[in-house]
Amino acid sequence: MKYEVPARVRESAATPIRDLDRYREAAAQAVHDPDGFWLDVTRARVAWSKEPTEGLVGGFDTIKRGPLSWFGDGELNVTVSCLDRHLASRGDKVAILWEGDEPGDVRKITYRELHAEVCKAANALTELGLKRGERAIIYMGMVPEAAIAMLACARIGAVHSVVFGGFSAEALRDRIRDCGAEIVITQDVGLRGSKHIPLKRTTDEALEGSPSVKKVLVYKRSDVEVPWNEGRDVWWHDAVGGASAEHEPHAFEAEHPLFVLYTSGSTGRPKGVVHTSGGYLTYTSYTHATVFDLREDDVYACVADVGWITGHSYIVYGPLANGATTLMFESIPTYPDAGRYWDMVERHKITIFYTAPTAIRALAAQGDAHVDKRDLSSLRVLGTVGEPINPEAWEWYYDVVGKGRCNIVDTWWQTETGGIAISPIAPATPTAPGSATLPMPGIQPSLRTPEGAVIRGPGQGLLCIDHPWPGQARTVWGDHDRFVATYFSTIEGAYFTGDGCRRDADGYHWITGRVDDVLNVSGHRMGTAEFEAAIVSVDSVAEAAVVGYPHDLKGQGVYAYVVAQEGETVDLTELNQACRSQIGAHAKLDKIQVVPGLPKTRSGKVMRRILRKIAEGRGDELGDTSTLADPGVVDVIREGALV
Ligand code: PRX
Repeated sequence: MKYEVPARVRESAATPIRDLDRYREAAAQAVHDPDGFWLDVTRARVAWSKEPTEGLVGGFDTIKRGPLSWFGDGELNVTVSCLDRHLASRGDKVAILWEGDEPGDVRKITYRELHAEVCKAANALTELGLKRGERAIIYMGMVPEAAIAMLACARIGAVHSVVFGGFSAEALRDRIRDCGAEIVITQDVGLRGSKHIPLKRTTDEALEGSPSVKKVLVYKRSDVEVPWNEGRDVWWHDAVGGASAEHEPHAFEAEHPLFVLYTSGSTGRPKGVVHTSGGYLTYTSYTHATVFDLREDDVYACVADVGWITGHSYIVYGPLANGATTLMFESIPTYPDAGRYWDMVERHKITIFYTAPTAIRALAAQGDAHVDKRDLSSLRVLGTVGEPINPEAWEWYYDVVGKGRCNIVDTWWQTETGGIAISPIAPATPTAPGSATLPMPGIQPSLRTPEGAVIRGPGQGLLCIDHPWPGQARTVWGDHDRFVATYFSTIEGAYFTGDGCRRDADGYHWITGRVDDVLNVSGHRMGTAEFEAAIVSVDSVAEAAVVGYPHDLKGQGVYAYVVAQEGETVDLTELNQACRSQIGAHAKLDKIQVVPGLPKTRSGKVMRRILRKIAEGRGDELGDTSTLADPGVVDVIREGALV
């Protein structure tokens, strides 16, 4: 069933793509002349010091030899687009609208104030010795200073890597080491739902054995006393507070790296996805303005965390490049109760609200009363991101939150795509519950068979993208071969997303979820390999295999099959502790089954397909298991299955 765009969403659209005809025109132009299309977009949206004349150089066919480039002869300072150029026309407009952990604890930071704070932080970081091209880890909660730190790095050409505050000391240490960070920017504690997250203490632990880090800059969020390392640790209020608010921005080349963001894959440790400056900013600015149909007076709220790509692209860089008022939310959706989002919508008169299906499902399960007692009439566009949304949750969002007066944009994209790749455009695209609908202009998706053949018309297959776009990741930090192997070796000549997708007769895309060994739990992307590494680090464990299974609230749950060492018993709480300390608080095993062995082929490969089916409660649909080295083990696993 299709939902037409409500009249009030269609009327007075700010984006030129105000209907499907205009969408088709733009999409056709972007296919026909990608360079011309994106050069026009970037000249209109980005403040370049030296305007580019060059579009794409290189491509998926040459990616083995090195990263491709967009706008290669251009020069810019990303923060000039996000701050300086707004001063004349929007100096007094609120740039960051911050809502703290306690309801109503609000800070409103104008573009003029944000510019001054970023300049001060840029001067402070320079004073602390951070130079162009060097890396800074940002391990913070959702305070404005996290965004200020990101922008200050960008201002001086340093490369930031934000690590989500839920990650453990070990995970933080891995990331610090991998990118060879010079400095860590953190805070005493993070506040979430009245709980303290010990960010400084975890940082201290992570820094044991991280010799590259010379300085730790600490923002003070509370009165909690924290351990202090004289000579290494510096308070934010001393260093930034005392710095000059004047800072002359230097222009960097378009392909200068802007940030590294670690994300999980099928194998090995998380990899540092590298995004660069000109193309990323062009793409996030364009998609943010287009998909949400951003208008000058909008109050835009994306309630993600800056630790994930959504926070980078659609709390910080896209909205600020567009001169928007962007909300930063420190707390959780259920504090002090499940009406917190709707309370904020009412108080701040939020017009665009962007969240994840997991939050929608959790809040829908609390009933409608929390929503109904608030005035949500300011809302115009509702967004979702991070995982497939089930039609029931979509309809609840549409009817109960949006009252049938808003369009829903189900935005499909990834850390690697940099910005939204498949999504409705708010005033233009009729929606269908559960469908991300149509590709953005400039995105050329294809569905493929495992052999790489292109599926035309309606069908289902592996989701690929056939042509480069400015916002895409350029490489993996320090390991371009891994970048090529991960994304460009499954399907010759195309970017492979790791997702499956169905396309219907209208050309609408329905993402079916990951087809690789990546889990998506409550919108958190985690690798089965990371869980397995944590589990087998426990002495009593010989072997482990982890798979996902459908979970009503979290989208996917984590199911671990564990084989004990000969003569040992496995303590299940120890397994969860290992995941917590090696990955983070969000890495929890939902079900653990101790099994006598894993189903393996005669060559020793674990048959995950079988384990997935059993975890899904479809153990009677296994088909032929006679090729296994020990078919008997399947019966034992099936009988003991926790379903
Ligand atoms: O499986 C897809 C799912 O999230 C994955 C990307 O995760 P990450 O890099 O952490 O970025 C999340 C925020 C952009 C994808 O491979 N995903 C993301 N958005 C959707 C989605 N699945 C279905 N529908 C979506 N709208």
